[in-house]
Amino acid sequence: MPQTLSVIKADIGGYIGHTAMHPDVFDLGREAVARAVQSGLLIDAQVSSCGDDLFLIMSHDRGENDERVHKLAWDTFVDGTEVAKKLHLYGAGQDLLVDAFSGNIRGAGPGSAELELEERQSEPVIVFMGDKCSAGAFNLPFYKMFADPFNTAGLVISEALHQGFAFEVHDVKEHQKIMITTPDELYDLLVFIGSPARYAVKRVVSRATGAVGAVSSTDKLSLIAGRYVGKDDPAAVVRCQGDFPAVGEVLEAFTTAWSVEGFMRGSHYGPWMPVAQRDAHPARFDGPPRVVALGFQIAKGKLVGPRDMFDDLSFDNARAEANHISDYLRKHGPFEPHRLPLDEMEYTTMPAVAAKLTSRWSEI
Ligand code: F6R
Ligand code: MG
Ligand code: MG
Repeated sequence: MPQTLSVIKADIGGYIGHTAMHPDVFDLGREAVARAVQSGLLIDAQVSSCGDDLFLIMSHDRGENDERVHKLAWDTFVDGTEVAKKLHLYGAGQDLLVDAFSGNIRGAGPGSAELELEERQSEPVIVFMGDKCSAGAFNLPFYKMFADPFNTAGLVISEALHQGFAFEVHDVKEHQKIMITTPDELYDLLVFIGSPARYAVKRVVSRATGAVGAVSSTDKLSLIAGRYVGKDDPAAVVRCQGDFPAVGEVLEAFTTAWSVEGFMRGSHYGPWMPVAQRDAHPARFDGPPRVVALGFQIAKGKLVGPRDMFDDLSFDNARAEANHISDYLRKHGPFEPHRLPLDEMEYTTMPAVAAKLTSRWSEI
C-alpha cells in the first residue's frame, strides 16, 4: 500500500519576536500528533521547528490532501495558537488566515509538502525546514540535486538517474502548473524557475519510474492574504538513494548559501544558511535565513530518526559564507540588491510617501 509523508507547517507565534518557538507550543504539537498515532489516523509522526515555525511530520496511508490529516494539522495549529496567546508570544496565530477549516489546509495559510511513496526495502528521506524565506526557495537546490551533473554525479554515472527528472513548476500568481523535463528542456526550465517569486518547483519526478523524488510547499501567504502577514518559510521532502540522488548529493546542494527572499520584514535578500537544529534561531536582522535538514529512514511507515544532517563540519564553509554575505549585504542598508525590488517587497511605505510628495514632482 502506498504511504504518504505529509509535512504541514505554520508560524503560530514566536518566542522572542520572530526568532524561535516556545517549548510549550512545541509540546502541545507533540502531544496532538502522538494522540493521532495512538488513534490509528497516523502511522507515525514527529514535531520539529525551524525558527518560529512548527513543522508536523506525519506518516500515514491516507494519500495527499486527506481531510482528516489536514484537519488534525489545522486543529493543532489552532490549539497551539491558544497556548501562544496565553504566553503573549509574538504574532500568535499569524499564519492562520481563515476563520474555519473547510476540508483542506491549502489556501488557509499553513504550508504543506506531501509525498506519496511505495516504500522501498530501505527508504532514506530528508525533510527540509526553512525559516525567513519564501516559497520557491527550493528551486535552486532542487535544480542542483536533480538536474546539475556538477552537483549530482549520479546523473552522469548511474543508470538509474541517467534518464533525468521532470519538474512540476507552479505559477503561483496565475495558479497554473506545467511539467518540464530535464536534461532536454533544461534551458526552458531555468527561464521559469530562475524567478522563484513567481515560479516554484512543486514536485520532481523520476523519468525512469514516474516516482516522486521531491516535493516542496509552494503556498504563498501574501497571495492568500492579499497583504504581508509573515514569511512562507517552506518545507520540502526529498527521497534519496537508488533511483534518486544519494544523501550526499542532496545535501551537496546546500554547500553554497544561496540568496533567498525573506531577511528582515520579508523585504530583503539574504544568504540561506544550512544549520543544525540548535542553530535555527535567526536573530541578526531577523536572519540570516535558515534551513535545517532532518534525515529519516522510513520503516513500514515509521519515522526512524531524525538525524540532524547539517550538524556536520563540512557545512562550516557555507555558514561562514552566509555570515560574510550578510555583513556585505547589510552594508547596503535600504538599497537594492539587499532590499527587494519595489514590486516584490512584502510591505512598503511607497504608496503613502508617493501620495504625500505627489504635488512636488515636476517635469524635467
Ligand atoms: C517574520 C519576519 C520578521 C518581521 C519583522 C517585523 O517572519 O520576517 O522580519 O517581518 O520582525 O515584524 P512585525 O511587523 O510583526 O513587527
Ligand atoms: Mg513569526
Ligand atoms: Mg518563520
